[in-house]
Amino acid sequence: MREPRLSKVRRSLTAVAAALALGPLGCGKPPEADPPAGLLPAVTPLALDSLSFLVDGQQSAVLQRSALLQRFAKETVRVWDPFEQAEVAFEALPLLPVLDAGLGQGWRQRKDLLFVAKDGYTAPLPVARLLARKAWLAVAKAGGQPLVLRPKAGGTIEAGPYYVLWDSLGDAELRAEGDHGWPFQTVRIELADLAQRWPRLQLPPTATAAEQRGAAVFTGWCLPCHAIGGQGGGVGPELADPIGVVHVWQRPWLAAWIDDPAKVRRGAKMPAPPLPAGDRHQHIADVIAYLQAVTPTPTTAP
Ligand code: HEC
Repeated sequence: MREPRLSKVRRSLTAVAAALALGPLGCGKPPEADPPAGLLPAVTPLALDSLSFLVDGQQSAVLQRSALLQRFAKETVRVWDPFEQAEVAFEALPLLPVLDAGLGQGWRQRKDLLFVAKDGYTAPLPVARLLARKAWLAVAKAGGQPLVLRPKAGGTIEAGPYYVLWDSLGDAELRAEGDHGWPFQTVRIELADLAQRWPRLQLPPTATAAEQRGAAVFTGWCLPCHAIGGQGGGVGPELADPIGVVHVWQRPWLAAWIDDPAKVRRGAKMPAPPLPAGDRHQHIADVIAYLQAVTPTPTTAP
């Protein structure tokens, strides 16, 4: 039951972030204003429900919710929701025109977009997927109801201000991918060359096939939550700097953790990652090979 667990870690972390931002001691400083150095650019949305856009690290636009609703025609859209595991109707804006307005037309010729959530979750979405399939930005549930998801296994997810929907009702392939590529709580969309934006995540040209496969797994399934040398998502801990997990964990336990953290530590906050289709143990070995390749060798002993 990976979706509810995934959403649970995100939800609880978001609740903490929200409490920090809104509580009496929060001084009105939004949580994303204070990430570790290099994690996120020094740009914060003007309001919690505005959507900001970055092109190669430079802010290109900020659209307030009212402007979004005025500029783009809201549709009622029915999709198979991967969290609720049911057909759900949303009020949503067509995503491509919103991206044109925020990023300029040039994004269509590029490779990757990053959807960044309030809590630092950073989902890369390939431009090719956006151009091949119909996608929307949900602003509410149908009838103007709040954008709250009710995962099948229980609990709720506050998916606002913006939640990416795909035309999944009749698309078996999309449905098989589960919630992968359905970022919620989106507050920022970035057009970025991943290699330039995050050089620390790049493998040297001499990388082995296993390391390259591991890089693809890492980008899709780990990077949304984890950073390497401060570059990547901010939900989970840093994995390489100053001392990498590949140096402080014994290899078999690292593999066991990545497979299912709860089997290694009671109360672990990382959900068992869904990982791509195919041999799960192979994917885990590949991702460890990748981590090994991008982690500097420690120069000091404990
Ligand atoms: C939904 C967010 C999320 C995803 C996706 C995720 N992690 Fe984590 N990860 C976490 C959190 C949160 C922790 C901290 C766990 C805790 O303290 O209980 C963590 C902890 C870890 C740790 C232990 C770090 C340490 O120093 O103790 C490793 C190693 C790790 N993750 C690797 C991975 C790998 C590899 C992937 C991809 C296959 C991955 N994680 C995917 C959220 C995530």
